[in-house]
Amino acid sequence: MTKVRKAPTDLRSHRWFGVNDLRAFGHRSRIAQMGYSRSDYAGKPVIAIINTWSDINPCHSHFRARAEEVKRGVWQAGGFPLEMPAISLSEPFQKPTTMLYRNLLAMETEELLRSYPVDGCVLLGGCDKTTPALIMGALSMNLPAIFVPAGPMLRGDFKGKFLGSGSDTWKYWAELRAGNITEQDWQGVEEGIARAPGHCMTMGTASTMTSAAEAIGLTLPGAASIPAADSRHAQMATLSGKRVVEMVWEDVCPRDIVDARAIDNAVTTVLALGGSTNAIVHLIALARRAGVPLDLARFDALARRTPVLANIRPSGKYLMEDFFYAGGLRGLLTRLGDLVDVKAPTVNGRTLGQNLEGAEVYHDDVIRPRDNPLVERDGLAVLRGNLAPDGAVIKPAAMELHLQRHIGRAVVFRDYNDLAARIDEPALDIDKDSVIVLQSSGPQGAPGMPEWGQLPIPKKLLQQGVRDMVRISDARMSGTSYGACVLHVAPESHVGGPLALVRDGDLIELDVAGRRIELMVGAAELAARRAAWTPPAARYSRGFGALYLKHVTQADKGCDFDFLEDGAATSDPEIH
Ligand code: FES
Repeated sequence: MTKVRKAPTDLRSHRWFGVNDLRAFGHRSRIAQMGYSRSDYAGKPVIAIINTWSDINPCHSHFRARAEEVKRGVWQAGGFPLEMPAISLSEPFQKPTTMLYRNLLAMETEELLRSYPVDGCVLLGGCDKTTPALIMGALSMNLPAIFVPAGPMLRGDFKGKFLGSGSDTWKYWAELRAGNITEQDWQGVEEGIARAPGHCMTMGTASTMTSAAEAIGLTLPGAASIPAADSRHAQMATLSGKRVVEMVWEDVCPRDIVDARAIDNAVTTVLALGGSTNAIVHLIALARRAGVPLDLARFDALARRTPVLANIRPSGKYLMEDFFYAGGLRGLLTRLGDLVDVKAPTVNGRTLGQNLEGAEVYHDDVIRPRDNPLVERDGLAVLRGNLAPDGAVIKPAAMELHLQRHIGRAVVFRDYNDLAARIDEPALDIDKDSVIVLQSSGPQGAPGMPEWGQLPIPKKLLQQGVRDMVRISDARMSGTSYGACVLHVAPESHVGGPLALVRDGDLIELDVAGRRIELMVGAAELAARRAAWTPPAARYSRGFGALYLKHVTQADKGCDFDFLEDGAATSDPEIH
């Protein structure tokens, strides 16, 4: 990717500031209004710092400081930094789900970069959907870009035990419902589980996607594993600001980096981390933005050869802080050896392999060697069958082994409210072998495909000691969750997928090794049920929700908007 080094007059921002006309006068006078003189910006790359900080996002609470540190690097390298806020997508607070708004942040990122005098950008994100959204937008606009991951928060703490985001919430909630811990204990968990800035520190969607961003080549080496509270995180932010200025002169753009090799490296990394199933939806969307074909079959093929090496919750034992001290993602990538393509380029101008030189693993139980993996293979598995003609996914590493081959009676809930109302009814006809089915929780049905997929186990079964059951939905599942949860069933029930036709008492077969999910009902009966099925009403009639419902694709296609997928680049605006 040898390109001619840019001259100042080649800069995109030159059209706003460098020409001598009335419009440029307006632009320069308004920059002067903010206290900058011509020498601060003339002939320099303008670097947008797209900041997803917000008072409502605890995972990004350090981003005001990080933006200043990025600016310091930009100034030092001879650039002109401009911070631009973008929608924060705070996972714990936004309803019905941040996933409804991932594409909105992607659009906002793309349009901020397009409509303003920007030559390059630094993307500040990390809380679940922010990583894919920022990268999707940056890929579509294709200006030089570096991603600065938020970094994981420190380990949680309760009575001398480490707590993991999400995973321990579900665990202690189940213990509370079973009567094994007190309300006071539960409050202690609440106070200690999130005690520092940064994203969830289990291998949830945030850790998975920031690691994928590094494996793709869009961060500085080692960036994704540094805890947010570590001073080296601030140093990384400054170095990212320095580097992006040089990338502008070199004209190194995201599409120069995100190719089929990079996407395979990201998928392999996600699998070796025992990463979140959400990464499937996000990486497919991201790859399609870059014009790289990626489908569920590729995930399954790579899963069959990739061992899970990271011993991190929810699949394993440790947390992201331990992972960092053990050598971090560079350590893990070194252990993957020939499973990753080390010739893939990265944002610092070096190949992935060059960036791994000198990387070591300091704790063999946290980052396992290839000959002693946490799980031999199949960190994720793609299922197909008459219940999911376009695919469904499951995380075999995070489920009880005896459920991997299972036939059980369906207990069907028509939507989330129905589930919440009836799951704990003492009279509910359900036992440990039943298969819990939730409908209307997909991209259109919920809408937004929320993380409802770890369906609750009925209280009466919890009290009997049951901790895992086969559960099926068209929802997603938090990366911090675990269990025999079949997710992302496509097509979803709301648009008439076969999941909509399941009834109480139907037999369902799950065969993870055979990659099958079958509704054991005859074709004639299914045809009769389909003839009687009526499509539910759309959930939104106006606003962003209506736009979303009209254009969102199904889970196997990445849930992007159909009009945002790869296509001819939109031209820059005229400067009038
Ligand atoms: Fe932000 Fe988990 S809530 S990453």
